Amino acid sequence: MRATVRLADVLKPLIGRVQAAVLPRTHHGTSPSGVKLPPTVYRMGGAHFRQDAAFVSSAVAEVQRLEDKIGLSSESRLLDWGCGAGRLAVGIAEKLGRIELYHGVDIQKHLVDWAQRHLGDRDGFRFTHVDLANPRYNPGGSHERTIPGDSGGYDGFYAYSVFSHLMGDDTAAYLHEVARLLAPGGRAFVTAFVEDDVPDQEENPVGYGPLTWSGPLHCVRFDRGFFEGMVRDAGLEVDSLEHGQETDGQSLYILRRP
Ligand SMILES: C[S@@+](CC[C@H](N)C(=O)[O-])C[C@H]1O[C@@H](n2cnc3c(N)ncnc32)[C@H](O)[C@@H]1O
Repeated sequence: MRATVRLADVLKPLIGRVQAAVLPRTHHGTSPSGVKLPPTVYRMGGAHFRQDAAFVSSAVAEVQRLEDKIGLSSESRLLDWGCGAGRLAVGIAEKLGRIELYHGVDIQKHLVDWAQRHLGDRDGFRFTHVDLANPRYNPGGSHERTIPGDSGGYDGFYAYSVFSHLMGDDTAAYLHEVARLLAPGGRAFVTAFVEDDVPDQEENPVGYGPLTWSGPLHCVRFDRGFFEGMVRDAGLEVDSLEHGQETDGQSLYILRRP
């Protein structure tokens, strides 16, 4: 078992590097306004995203939701945590054209490398890779729980389907980072699996949601009171909760730094 884990830890970054070297040269998708699109195998979040039109329209629709719910504009400074290969960045470039600061952060190096190379040359856009552990996405990473960025340096924070793959200890620590990064009055748009009257936290709960969960942290479900307690302990407030309407039944929270 120990040998298998070590082999996977060694092979995963190597595979990522080979993909990063080869795939960007074989894919030439662009959005209607000419924004480069990640290779299809780099698109997280479902098979329908393999179609360029679906990928771009979901990204643009997400920007509209951020405009409506946290006041995103071209003057904003936004941190996109768990940005993957930059789905939201594509939407911002397509819909707003420019932004004061878009900062994408992720632990998967090949995705961040692609995004930095192809989207990071736009004014205001930058991406940072952090080699931190997540048993699902980067098991060999460090066990620090930090998010790079200046304290109080962001008006908005976006984390779509990220807390859904983190246990409570990590979630609590990262919520403190969200509070540190947001300027007073700044707002976070985050999704998570939360339900009433369930155990505080449960990995891959059987019979819950539309999928058969498999592999580490495919679905982490929290009790609503437990999750909101972690939010308050981090110094954040719950502005709103829309239950169960997001991917695979996740809920949408708008959190605010007072
Ligand atoms: C399901 S994907 C969502 C991707 C993107 N937010 C979207 O909606 O298209 C979850 C992402 O979170 C990233 N992630 C997981 N743990 C992380 C951490 N501690 N720090 C930064 N990114 C993390 C994963 O690498 C992965 O890209």
